Amino acid sequence: MAMQRTLSIIKPDATQKGYVGKIIARFEEEGLRIAAVRKMHLSRLEAEGFYAVHKARPFFGELVEFMMSGPCVVMVLEGEDAIAENRRIMGATDPAEAAEGTLRKLYAESKGMNAVHGSDAPETAAAEIAYFFRETEIF
Ligand code: CMP
Repeated sequence: MAMQRTLSIIKPDATQKGYVGKIIARFEEEGLRIAAVRKMHLSRLEAEGFYAVHKARPFFGELVEFMMSGPCVVMVLEGEDAIAENRRIMGATDPAEAAEGTLRKLYAESKGMNAVHGSDAPETAAAEIAYFFRETEIF
């Protein structure tokens, strides 16, 4: 398995409920390294730009409003097979379908307010990391 980087976002529902420490600890316990981390409150433009691929979806407006509703923690996770590993740790998009013990099963309340985001492929990981971080901010 190759070393990879992936973008993770702890979303406003999880930051507001105080789950930041638990979620970061889980990534480290599972062997993913926090290569970069920043807490930030996304503007409308930043949220719309990040989720531009979903622009035509009926839930786009709701998704953007939610992502602007409070601070997020954006991170670069690094490790063996990090993209798939992060997605395994997060669980299914809809917490009702997420496996026991996954972050979304533990901390999310709905498909929209689902606690965490993770890149879904190497190309999207590279683009999403570059959306938030310069190479010199990743260690
Ligand atoms: P995320 O992994 O951040 O990528 C796109 C997001 O869109 C997804 O998590 C969900 O939070 C959101 N999403 C996907 N489907 C729906 C839906 N049917 N209703 C509301 N939000 C959705």
